[in-house]
Amino acid sequence: MKVTRREFAKSAMSAAAWSAAPSIAHATQPRFFPTGFLWGAATAGHQIEGNDINSDFWLLENIKPTMFSEPVLDGCNSFELWAGDLDLARRIGLNTYRFSLEWSRIEPEPGLFSMAMLDHYKAIVEGCHTRGLKPVVTFSHWTMPLWFAERGNWTNPDSPALFARFCGRAARHLGDGIERALTLNEPNGLVMEKSSLPESVMRAQATMFAEANRVTGSTDFVGGPAFAEAEQMQPNLLKGHRDASSAIRAERSLLPVGFSLAIVDEQAAGEDTAMRDTARERFYGPWLNTAKQDDYIGIQNYTRRRWDAKGALSAPAGARLDQIGNEFYPASLANCARYVHKVTGRPVLVTEHGIANEDDLPRAELIPAALTHLQEAIAEGVPVLGYIHWSLLDNFEWARGYVPKYGLASVDRSTFRRTLKPSATVLGEIAKRNSF
Ligand code: FCB
Repeated sequence: MKVTRREFAKSAMSAAAWSAAPSIAHATQPRFFPTGFLWGAATAGHQIEGNDINSDFWLLENIKPTMFSEPVLDGCNSFELWAGDLDLARRIGLNTYRFSLEWSRIEPEPGLFSMAMLDHYKAIVEGCHTRGLKPVVTFSHWTMPLWFAERGNWTNPDSPALFARFCGRAARHLGDGIERALTLNEPNGLVMEKSSLPESVMRAQATMFAEANRVTGSTDFVGGPAFAEAEQMQPNLLKGHRDASSAIRAERSLLPVGFSLAIVDEQAAGEDTAMRDTARERFYGPWLNTAKQDDYIGIQNYTRRRWDAKGALSAPAGARLDQIGNEFYPASLANCARYVHKVTGRPVLVTEHGIANEDDLPRAELIPAALTHLQEAIAEGVPVLGYIHWSLLDNFEWARGYVPKYGLASVDRSTFRRTLKPSATVLGEIAKRNSF
């Protein structure tokens, strides 16, 4: 592990000095997390595997005009190097690995399922067990098979049934070894992101989809970040989650099933909470409602957002911002866990949390600071099942390409060599002790 003693001490010291987490500095007794707590790192197929040439994102990244700053190409070559990724997670001291299935590899044509690809993912599930890692599996992390995109994606009334068929088939093959299933990753994400985007993005998307229709010879192409269709897709996504959950349970009745919610810690800046409450209802309401029927809910949080009577505010003057402009705000994760549990009554699993930063030090500060708050929420009675950090690796961050760095390990883009960062040691030490 490429972490010097000095680097580790430096990260740990600045973590202890972080003013928003006074309880770290004051803690004299070890503070334990619940027994069986999941400590993990997350990845997603398209962002690390490379060469998923049968997916909608691959096409959109490689046509002109495109909304992507660069194409994924080889990713981190994790399709070949997945075993090394698992070794890395284990070396950090984690007990959980979250990864996703690439639907476009498993079902390259409608109704044709590849045994070889199902076996590929089964080997990853088994590889997790060999290394003492619990596999948390996302059945769809945004990418879709090209054929699904050519048929209108989630705007197609058949989409819930098509997704459920895939999930049932995959669960039959893999389900025995999976610890927890997530049907969809951030199905509410586009609606939320769209609310802060200029109209020009919709026009750019329409031009890109027109080109996608031209090259595929279709008329209904919807793929990638389909902001314009975000609201239209919601009812089918909700039904898709419900149908897929039933299909997975029909194969593996004991497997806990949920989905992961994109959530910002929405705060009212003053007395007037109306705008904040409306935003919460619009971004999360339908999904929190459906989560009441699930075994648990995944939450993915990166920051907070403040609202006054007129709308969303920008980060306070002087706030620390990460590489993509998110405010550094360690308390946001625990606040989201409290809110989501209060509304749904379900146990919460942190399926993503992290920070985009070239320099690793803020990540090493954020992890213990956020976990201190999370532990306070647990002590108050919020059932939190685990903490899965985004991400194991610096990877392809969608439209932003390889620029944002979220990894606990960096990746050399030509040799694919992984190098652990000091923050991996910070997380690993907490994970190994299950306490601070
Ligand atoms: C989430 C996505 C994940 C990653 C992080 C930074 O919204 O689920 O794939 O890109 O953001």
